[in-house]
This record gives sequence, C-alpha cells and structure tokens, in this order.
Amino acid sequence: MGEPVVVVNNVSKKYRLYHERNNSIKIALLRGGRAKLDREFWALNDVSFEVTEGSTTGLIGENGSGKSTMLKCIARILRPDKGSVTVTGKMSALLELGAGFHPELTGRENVFLNGAILGLKQKELQERFDDIVDFAGIGQFIDEPVKNYSSGMYVRLGFSVAINVEPDILLVDEVLAVGDEAFQRKCLERFKYLKDNGKTVIIVSHAMSSVVNMCDHAVWFKHGQKMADGVPREVVEAYTGSIVMDRPASGSDTGDRWGSGEAKIDRVELIGRAGETIKRFPSGDPLTIRLWYSTSEPVPRPVFSVAVQTLQGIVVTNPTTREADLVPEKLDGVGHVDLVLAHCPLLPDTYDLTVSVTDFTMAHPYDVRRNVVRFDVDRKGRHEPAGIVSFGGTWALR
Ligand SMILES: Nc1ncnc2c1ncn2[C@@H]1O[C@H](COP(=O)(O)OP(=O)(O)OP(=O)(O)O)[C@@H](O)[C@H]1O
Ligand SMILES: [Mg+2]
Repeated sequence: MGEPVVVVNNVSKKYRLYHERNNSIKIALLRGGRAKLDREFWALNDVSFEVTEGSTTGLIGENGSGKSTMLKCIARILRPDKGSVTVTGKMSALLELGAGFHPELTGRENVFLNGAILGLKQKELQERFDDIVDFAGIGQFIDEPVKNYSSGMYVRLGFSVAINVEPDILLVDEVLAVGDEAFQRKCLERFKYLKDNGKTVIIVSHAMSSVVNMCDHAVWFKHGQKMADGVPREVVEAYTGSIVMDRPASGSDTGDRWGSGEAKIDRVELIGRAGETIKRFPSGDPLTIRLWYSTSEPVPRPVFSVAVQTLQGIVVTNPTTREADLVPEKLDGVGHVDLVLAHCPLLPDTYDLTVSVTDFTMAHPYDVRRNVVRFDVDRKGRHEPAGIVSFGGTWALR
C-alpha cells in the first residue's frame, strides 16, 4: 500500500454552545449585547491517524462521537481548533444529504452546478452526464426541481456526481444507509472500482458488515476521541463489544438492563452434565448456556451474544451467533438459543455472564442484561494452573 495521502495530526475541534432562554435578552443586555457563551464542547479531542493511498477507510462509532466532524475537517469544511489535516490529491466529498444542491433547480442544473464546484469542466460534465444520471437511476426526474425528489433520489444523484468526478480521494458520509438494496450494491461495486483504480475512499458508516467487507482500515471514535485504529474486523469487534459491555450514560433504561425491547432475553440458564440447571460446576465439565428469548414483534436478523467476565472486569470471551453464521432472517415468538461447550475451559473462580440480543450491526441493542448470572467454577483435580482459562493442551518433552 502507498504513501499517506491524508494525515490527521492531533486534531481537536470545538463547537460553541449558546444559551437560548427567556432571560437571555436581559443577560445579553447586561453583557453589553453579546450572547452568553454557555460552554464549549470538544467534538474532537486530539485525534491522529493516517490514510494511505489506494486504501478504503471506515470511520465508525456511536451517534455524536465525532465522525462527521472528522470528515468535515478532512474536507476543509471545518477548520480544526488544534492540530492539522494534510491532504494530497483531488478530493470529492459527499457529506450531507443533498449538500450543495439548490432545491429550486432541476436535477440536470444541479449536476452541472455541483460538478463545476467539484472541479469538472463543462465539456467533461457533458461527456459524463448520461453516466451520472444512469448511475443515480433518476430517469425522467432529471428535469424536475430537486425539491420534488425523495430523499433516496437526492442521495443517489449527489453520490453519482461525487463519484463521477473521479476524485483521488472520495469522502462519503453514511450513503450506504440510504437508498435501496440495489443502489447500495451499486455503491459497493463503485467503491471497489475506485479501489481497483488506486483511489482512496474514506467512509462514515453504521453498517458494520460493510465496513468489515469493504474497508482495509477502520478508525473507531468515542466521545470525540480515537479509541482504536487498524484492521476493520478487530476494530469493529472492539466497538460492538463495547456497546454491549458499556452501560449507556443516559436513557430511560435502568440498572443492568437496557435496549429497545422488540426482542428480549427473559431468562438465562446454565445447564450441567446431567441436564440440570446449575450455578456451580467443576472446571472442564460440559456446559450449555441457554438464552430464553421472546419477541413483541418480528425482529429481522438478530444477533445473540454472551460475555463472560471475571469479577475484576476482564472479559474472558464474548462469542456471538453472528460469528457462527447463526443469524435467522427473522425472529418471531419465543424460544431459546444454546451455546454448547463440550468442556468449559474456565479455571476455578467466580464469573459473571452478560447477554445481549442486538440487530445485525450490533450497534442497536434490543435487550442487554449485564451480569445476569453469577456462577462459580470449582477445582476439578488437585492441581489447577493459575489463570483464567485452561489451554487444555498436552506437554511433550524430547
Ligand atoms: N454545528 C454544531 N454545533 C454544536 N455542536 C455540534 C455541531 N455539529 C455537531 N455537534 C456535536 O458534536 C458532536 C459530534 O457530532 P458529529 O456530527 O461529528 O457526530 P457523528 O459521529 O457524525 O454522529 P452520527 O453517527 O449521529 O452522525 C455531537 O455531540 C454533536 O451534537
Ligand atoms: Mg454523522
């Protein structure tokens, strides 16, 4: 892979938040006409990473974590308060739904206006016009004012212009979430085409499977900070794992349980070697972890997960049904999911189980139950090694 073409260097970005209250006029007068600065809010805090030429990079993280702000700093729409962003090459950005589109103008007029802003000559635009309209699948609507477009049409046309100017670096915020399946597939193909032609793509996405499948680099943001940066599968796993393990800071949910509730885990059972429910068993024994679920409405492509934690908070393992490819198209009604271990490798200690059922991206929890079961693992023989798990291997000395 090539040289770095985007270098983000210790970037911090703050937004200023102002009071809007009944007494604000009075305060403003007292302060000599200036609005009161309520507080400053750092949307990005000391973020650094590099994007190499020809790579596809995904920026991920929960809502409000700073992804769009980062993309806008790269696109030079926002200027960082601290740090710097260096970009080498021609950049094209699709950051907001129909950003840069004039509602009263037709699709055709907007394509020319937008293309010109993105640096295409009139002649080049004329040559590519049919491709642009074709890719967007706008058809006859191209001569309608864009204010009459559906949000899907808006996005498709904006995206089509942005990719058809053939940038060296393409920035895209969340386009894959909009549009129907067919358009999403076309986008993925186009990203691949850009990649095959050595172009650099930076996307913001909440679609974790797309990030894993199409990116070669992912950066995870949380509260404006970079949490991880590296191989997509690992970064996505760390992020989705944290959603399940972290209690949300706000929300109506209480205590150790939260989620939107369309699917619920009503009960968690540990089942021992004789098929009985247990809370204590010897190390190395067979174990089944059974999650009893129910749904209040059909839930598409749910993912169940189980996390085992020590009392010191170390996550020993966090298997999911997704990595086992056990994801039904739809979950409806009641039933149970089993995780079956022929030999539970946990060493003697006390452990807590956290279980969850989420949507396929694992970004949206239906039900998370933290520390729902506490159990003890007993000694099996006289000698147990120290640690958390048994490797279960055999020694050989020659
Ligand atoms: N113009 C603004 N003025 C004040 N605060 C802002 C402004 N734009 C964004 N913010 C705040 O900055 C934080 C980061 O926002 P940003 O849009 O970068 O998040 P994001 O990761 O893109 O979120 P999402 O996944 O919802 O798109 C949020 O708390 C947001 O409320
Ligand atoms: Mg955003």
